[in-house]
Amino acid sequence: MEGITVIDHPLVQHKLTIMRDKETSTASFRGLLREISTLLCYEVTRNLQLTTVRIETPMTTIDAPTLEGKKLVFASILRAGNGLLEGMLDLVPAARVAHVGIYRDHETLQPVEYYFKAPEDLADRLVIVVDPMLATANSAIAAIEKLKERGARNIRFLCLLAAPEGIERFRAAHPDVEIFTAAIDSHLNEKGYIVPGLGDAGDRMYGTK
Ligand code: PRP
Ligand code: URA
Repeated sequence: MEGITVIDHPLVQHKLTIMRDKETSTASFRGLLREISTLLCYEVTRNLQLTTVRIETPMTTIDAPTLEGKKLVFASILRAGNGLLEGMLDLVPAARVAHVGIYRDHETLQPVEYYFKAPEDLADRLVIVVDPMLATANSAIAAIEKLKERGARNIRFLCLLAAPEGIERFRAAHPDVEIFTAAIDSHLNEKGYIVPGLGDAGDRMYGTK
């Protein structure tokens, strides 16, 4: 499918299976999300541009590879996005962080925005938006609209599970934004939950209902 990369690494798929299991505890779910996010981060950053920097090793001088451009921005869609954010920061500690507070109304499934804080110079940076779940895509579409309003131009979206319905809507709204996901599930149910899915990601992370 165009514009979407499925990260099918065996470790990702193994951890995802444990996360889907309804018997998995809150502590294990949170730990696995952190572990899996480092693996997803590795894939979403795979083709970052490199330049060289002259350094002296104890033996000689070389032009060695280093990341080109300004520091990355990880944009977390609260709350559940923070579960992915932590592991990504383990791997890229110098990244800047944006927080986008959005939850979806359980009746209408429309996004409700309650917080936004991002670095000033979004236009000059790659922005990787993170949220474990792409269901209707209403939350992700709204978050990316907001980031674009603030200048972001180079954006990727990283999630754990995506529903076909959400992918279609997302691609129509933001055709310039590539999606990275660990799996594409079957469908959304009548309440807008991903099937087979893993339930409510925020609730499973934080032990709420
Ligand atoms: C979940 C999830 C996404 C959203 C996906 O958040 O983390 O942000 O639902 O659904 P959508 O694609 O249909 O918009 P939720 O609204 O449960 O908020 P929370 O993370 O604060 O619990
Ligand atoms: N949000 C979730 O956390 N889970 C779903 O299945 C759909 C939206």
